Amino acid sequence: MCVRGLEDAQEACLATQTPDVIVQFQSQTHAYRCVLLHQSGAFFPEGCGVEAEEVGPRTDHAGPCLVLLKGVTLPRADFEAWLRDSVMEWAVMRVYWIKQRCADRQDALPLDWVLQPAAFTHVLDVVETAAGVAYSMSPCPRLFRTTAWTRPRLEGPLCKATSKLAEALAWVKHAPRGGVAIDLGASPGGWSTLLASSMHHVISIDPADMAPEALALPNLTHIKSRVETALPQIEAALAAAGAGGGADLLVSDMNKHPSAMIGMVEPLLAYLKPGGHLLLTLKFFSRSRDKAWDPTNCPQLAGFRGVQVVWLLANTAHERTCVAIKC
Ligand SMILES: C[S@@+](CC[C@H](N)C(=O)[O-])C[C@H]1O[C@@H](n2cnc3c(N)ncnc32)[C@H](O)[C@@H]1O
Repeated sequence: MCVRGLEDAQEACLATQTPDVIVQFQSQTHAYRCVLLHQSGAFFPEGCGVEAEEVGPRTDHAGPCLVLLKGVTLPRADFEAWLRDSVMEWAVMRVYWIKQRCADRQDALPLDWVLQPAAFTHVLDVVETAAGVAYSMSPCPRLFRTTAWTRPRLEGPLCKATSKLAEALAWVKHAPRGGVAIDLGASPGGWSTLLASSMHHVISIDPADMAPEALALPNLTHIKSRVETALPQIEAALAAAGAGGGADLLVSDMNKHPSAMIGMVEPLLAYLKPGGHLLLTLKFFSRSRDKAWDPTNCPQLAGFRGVQVVWLLANTAHERTCVAIKC
């Protein structure tokens, strides 16, 4: 679509009006999770909209994968720069800036728009909301992503599971840095490698082998054992790392249902410092959006505050992540 002389007007309009932004995700559940994350205030900086809602005809698992962020005040360049650096970048397909509204479907596009499809220069985005039809025009280079191609969430051979921990740490506003982390179910070592980049020492527990690049890290100790039989070695490793007072972070990616996970982790909760963070990947048996397990009724977590089960973008349909802080 060719549009002459409109770019300046579009920019001026964006600078003076509060636009709505529509973010398109790879899946409908990612759109749903984005709404939950927006409500939690976890990732989104100031100005990313007063409210987020899924839009379009949809079921729990299928639909147009769109989230409407209402009243975005962050300048477009700042919003896009934030999104490109954020932990949700890999899940986002497109971003549409909607700033002009027709009263209804019959309203014409502005008369000065010259619509001559001689070359692909702009994209006209149109959306029908309860308030009527809204549209905006974007020059092609401003499209967020133009194909279904996505790059790896994080670079490197141990990347896939690592994005889950990266997102969980971003979700926890003041994640510990510089102390000691215990990583349960650590093989092949994606989480441990990420933790080793910000923590003083990482104690990795798994009966399976760790990847050579993880084992080579000078601040990582691998205890090649099941968690259930590793307590004396964990205690010794904490003492050797100078963490007599306990660990700052206890994480587990052992692929267990919460009922099993909590029992396995319970003996280790004593090794977590007050103020230390607990991050657990939980596996469930169904793909439903709502999960029955309530962590606030879990006696093992009675000594914790801020106990929440979050559906991170990097979790699968069956997974959730439990976060908690020791009192
Ligand atoms: C999904 S993988 C963990 C991936 C890891 N987070 C990473 O980033 O490389 C799950 C791991 O949990 C380990 N695991 C399962 N049960 C365990 C137990 N009882 N004690 C220790 N590790 C266990 C398995 O051996 C497996 O390596």
